[in-house]
Amino acid sequence: MNDPHIKKYIFGDPFETGAVVNDVSIETGNPPYIILDKDPSAITYTMGKSDRVYGLGESVRGINKRGWIYEMYCSDDPMHTETKRSLYGSHPFMIVDGEELFGLFIDYADRIVFDIGYESVNTINIRVGAPDYKLYIIEGCTPDEIVSGFRRLIGKSYIPPFWAFGFQQSRWSYYTSNDVRRVIDSYKSDGFPLDAVYLDIDYMEDFKDFTVSSERFPDLAELVESSKRNGVHLVPIIDAGVKIEEGYDVYEEGRDNGFFCKDENGEDFTAAVWPGRVCFPDFLNKDAAHWFGMKYKTLIDLGIDGFWNDMNEPAIFYSENRLDKAIDKVASLKGVNIGIYDFFALKDTVLGLSNSGEDYSAMYHNVNGERICHDKVHNLFGYNMTKSASDAFKEIAPDKNILLFSRASYIGMHRCGGIWMGDNQSWWSHLKLNLQMLPSLNMCGFMYTGADLVGFGDNCTEELALRWLALGIFNPLMRNHSALGTRDQEFYRFENKDAFRSLLNLRYSLIPYLYSEFVRSVEQDKMMFRPLSFEYREDKFAAACEDQLLVGDSIMIAPVYEPNAIGKNVYIPEENMIAVRMRAYDDYTVEHLSKGHHFIEIPANETVIYIRKGKALPLVTPAACTADINPDTVKFIGEFADDYEYTFCIEAGVQNGESIITKKTYKP
Ligand code: GLC
Repeated sequence: MNDPHIKKYIFGDPFETGAVVNDVSIETGNPPYIILDKDPSAITYTMGKSDRVYGLGESVRGINKRGWIYEMYCSDDPMHTETKRSLYGSHPFMIVDGEELFGLFIDYADRIVFDIGYESVNTINIRVGAPDYKLYIIEGCTPDEIVSGFRRLIGKSYIPPFWAFGFQQSRWSYYTSNDVRRVIDSYKSDGFPLDAVYLDIDYMEDFKDFTVSSERFPDLAELVESSKRNGVHLVPIIDAGVKIEEGYDVYEEGRDNGFFCKDENGEDFTAAVWPGRVCFPDFLNKDAAHWFGMKYKTLIDLGIDGFWNDMNEPAIFYSENRLDKAIDKVASLKGVNIGIYDFFALKDTVLGLSNSGEDYSAMYHNVNGERICHDKVHNLFGYNMTKSASDAFKEIAPDKNILLFSRASYIGMHRCGGIWMGDNQSWWSHLKLNLQMLPSLNMCGFMYTGADLVGFGDNCTEELALRWLALGIFNPLMRNHSALGTRDQEFYRFENKDAFRSLLNLRYSLIPYLYSEFVRSVEQDKMMFRPLSFEYREDKFAAACEDQLLVGDSIMIAPVYEPNAIGKNVYIPEENMIAVRMRAYDDYTVEHLSKGHHFIEIPANETVIYIRKGKALPLVTPAACTADINPDTVKFIGEFADDYEYTFCIEAGVQNGESIITKKTYKP
């Protein structure tokens, strides 16, 4: 690709990550804007006082990333409070928007530290683990142009099947076939729409990938079939670790073919995750990746057409070696009157057993015959697990677009599948984080995404569930998921069922709009969720707005994310926006709002959608599942010119594992 707006520099001997597919020619000399250390593993940039910084995909904190230090390092950390530095994905792309405007992508598969005004308030200091990386500087007249330039570089984002825009229910765990049937029946008998139910680790035999418990799910094929007749797809989890067990074919094949990651001595690297001791398939080894990908066929043959790949940072609970040392340490202190600092050190020894850097450093890959230490490629593990499945699906079932998303990711994986935002908590702050992560992920190519609605860990309240759902209806991946031992949070369990049902119906009315905007964003390398500052370039209030988003071409959202609120302050960034106060898809009032600050009252059973001037919101009649959605039932809300028209993208079949998408234009 020849793109005068993108400049590429190569330092040292970088590992080929696969992030970039439309590469540009290499520049020599000094990159513009930034200062490189001699090494050059450090990059600095001095920000103007009001410069804003965007990007970094799946990260804590706001849309403007300024004022914190982030580490791009795939990490399994469910307690992600605002002071954490890493989450599950590594997305080292950022935009500086202020006195100067440029984008920067560091293509490097180990840890990168982005200090964005943390040590020194006006300084960006980026530290790359080793001076072996590719640097891309992307120029444009607006942040949107920079995003498009970057997205052209990294290739088209994944488009899931249309049904994956329906509402999906999950829990760790629905333990038996009957549990699954009960969830579907409860949603259906209460008149809620539903498109998918998830199978967490307990559908397996002893947490062994590609097995099904004959005791708890004796009839999986029949269950899949009967659920589908109800419009509901079943989506099983696949974990990265393969249980070590004689007689378990996946383990034996992996071992016999040398498909697992190795330790320093060339033996299979072992550690413990859900099944106890496991080996990790070496997803960076092409043969191993192909072998593992083809294993999904076992479940696809039972009618399964969606998967979520988990624990692929990879998460390690402990390695035996380090566990033994910790146990020895504990034993050595028996009866000793230890001081408080020794006690803290002891606690850290135990807590530090999981996801330890020492274990990662002891793990090796075989990349085209070369032995590569895991440290060098850490951020590519989940990406390549998901790529292995995505590649295999085209071989196994080219006539199906199989849903696929992952927990860990790196840029490049956005072409193979979606991601969910990992193990969040039933906290109000994580509702807001869900909102703020959407645009940051879109910048990095991750379009099919969403948070575990209502929160994964911890106990939710009905009020949090309702408010979160009011944002959830806009998440492309709209999944309610919760952890073992937490309060049940299926939407039919709450008192105010009508309010939940109305919101779910509204989602189904919105799906043709959301799907069309999603597809167009992918086709045109745009973002579907945009901060106001990207659109209203000269507006200082829009620039500072951290809790409202433009969703597609027509609308803005400003969800409530605080408890006991009667409404919220909303900034209206243009004259004559129309606030549509919706109680149900066909029960709403409209109000014209002038540009400026407004306090908008929003009772918990209402949703307010803001329609942009001259645009329309197309809504269709809700349906029990996506298969029953009829775009011809569309009605438009808004005020628009006589010649206004809106084009729906419609899934019209599948070819080579991808949806065939047709367009149909409607006039109000
Ligand atoms: C991990 C996943 C979570 C899943 C759990 C059990 O924590 O992130 O979604 O429910 O494992 O499989």
